[in-house]
Amino acid sequence: MTPEIQPRDNAMSIAATAPQDILVHTEAGVTTITFNRVEKKNSLTQAMYTALAQALLAAQDDAATRVVVFQGDVTIFSAGNDIGDFLNHPPASEDAPVFQFLRALAGFSKPLVAAVCGPAVGIGTTLLLHCDLVYAGDNAAFSMPFVNLGLCPEAASSLLLPQMLGYHRAAEALLLGEPFFAEAALEVGLVNRVVPPTECNAVAQAQAKKLAAKQLSSLVETKRLMKKGQTAAVLDCMAEEGASFGRLLRGPAAREAFSAFMQKRHPDFSQV
Ligand code: COA
Repeated sequence: MTPEIQPRDNAMSIAATAPQDILVHTEAGVTTITFNRVEKKNSLTQAMYTALAQALLAAQDDAATRVVVFQGDVTIFSAGNDIGDFLNHPPASEDAPVFQFLRALAGFSKPLVAAVCGPAVGIGTTLLLHCDLVYAGDNAAFSMPFVNLGLCPEAASSLLLPQMLGYHRAAEALLLGEPFFAEAALEVGLVNRVVPPTECNAVAQAQAKKLAAKQLSSLVETKRLMKKGQTAAVLDCMAEEGASFGRLLRGPAAREAFSAFMQKRHPDFSQV
């Protein structure tokens, strides 16, 4: 039985280990992780993945944390992987920061809540598959354009998305890579509620506070029971996706797609 520990204010206790692009703030049992690189649409660099993994591992062990909330800006959740950073520093092994973050996310035993406004691209959407409660602004746009970038799914989305959406809707999202919007995400159960963007973070915080007021051991056990049937499958899937993703990332199609993005032109796949 996990001992019950009273939440205490612990503002910025973990922030010292994180760069400014990731803000971490703990208060009244809720650790809020904020993507804070708005000028680059909260795209995630290797350093940010390291900070995210560290924040989650610290929150896992921190008795002051009962719930974690992910949030971005009212205009943007995350544009996914930082394309230039990925081009220059592709993840070289299973220990690459992105994979450390994904494993920490999938293994996080306490409740995870997300507040999503604006675009949520790539991992910006796939990380939500590991959150327990998701609240979306009515400006949220979800997309997983891996195929358009010469890549393949990550974060066990190739397993979890068909389970959640049904195969054909998942295939539309993953094979066509087209965006879908807040109401569609609500309809398929990817999000719990759609709210005005300016209210989204507050709604997520209010729900997180409700969770933080409950018995942590009951929350952890309930989450474990709901997920236990597929924990091993999720980790296996992540490892397999990671190997494919890494191979494709070094391939000509991804390099062309990424170079095109950096040069602000359309990719030309005719030669790859
Ligand atoms: N990696 C690196 N930089 C990114 C980025 C990414 N994934 N997404 C956006 N940026 C940068 C842009 O290069 C631009 O930088 P600049 O001001 O120095 O030119 C800045 O963020 C603003 O982006 P912009 O595209 O002008 O914003 P927008 O509001 O028109 O569009 C998005 C927002 C998120 C829809 C669009 O930026 C986008 O599609 N990004 C790429 C998403 C992607 O493919 N991610 C990879 C998933 S694996």
